[in-house]
Amino acid sequence: QKHLRTQVIGRQMQYLKTTPSTNDVARTLATEGDVAALHGTVIIAEEQTGGVGRLSRAWVSPQGGIWITLILKPTIPIDHVFMITMAGAVAIARAIRKEFDIGALIKWPNDVYIGDKKVAGLLLELAAESDSIHYCLLGIGIDVNIKLDTLSPELRSGVTTISEELEHEVDRAAFLARVLREFERHYQVLESGEYDAILREWKSMSYTLEQHVRVNTMRNSFEGEAIDIDEYGALIVRKENGKIERVIAGDCFHT
Ligand code: BTN
Repeated sequence: QKHLRTQVIGRQMQYLKTTPSTNDVARTLATEGDVAALHGTVIIAEEQTGGVGRLSRAWVSPQGGIWITLILKPTIPIDHVFMITMAGAVAIARAIRKEFDIGALIKWPNDVYIGDKKVAGLLLELAAESDSIHYCLLGIGIDVNIKLDTLSPELRSGVTTISEELEHEVDRAAFLARVLREFERHYQVLESGEYDAILREWKSMSYTLEQHVRVNTMRNSFEGEAIDIDEYGALIVRKENGKIERVIAGDCFHT
């Protein structure tokens, strides 16, 4: 915490050596406690035994990574809630760039990439009553000091870690402090309603835009050029036949 220099984010922290998922710990706190008072709380685990990723996939979380969940009580309108994940992705990419001088990029919807490999993922969980946000849990997983050869071949594929890229281990506490500082800065921009500023920054580091992609949604799968992302976080794709699709939720792959 000595590195932190934030006002709200990470002022309260709970550090666990091992836990199934920091999201579960955060959810229990947020459901049982005063959410306003918990705003900015960060749950950190050294290792997770039941980490979860997007689309209910398992998220392997050994010692050496950064596995955290932020408890937030946002005041932004609920239809802009995805911007919180975008602010998180921007914060991680910026932190990697500043701390390690590596050109990190953001892949839609919310992965951070180095080159063609994933280094971090974000997962937003929303608790809302009708139109008002009760709380949000932003789960962040960053592969920091993990040796790829300790992972099974299928886990290793398409993935990198910061220590692999730099060929040495890094100070996780200092890097986490940087991530949280960057997040706080971008979160404040968001809360002040400057969605465009976050969008612009997201776009400036995008891995996805202007690329030919295949998009898989719950309903269908198609190819086209990723031409834009709107202020709700939806990906805009121009299909071969010229038709424009707006994708709110799904996965995309470069082709
Ligand atoms: C993704 O699928 O890319 C999102 C991964 C999110 C993983 C993080 S690690 C900390 C928090 N706890 C979890 O169980 N998941 C998130």
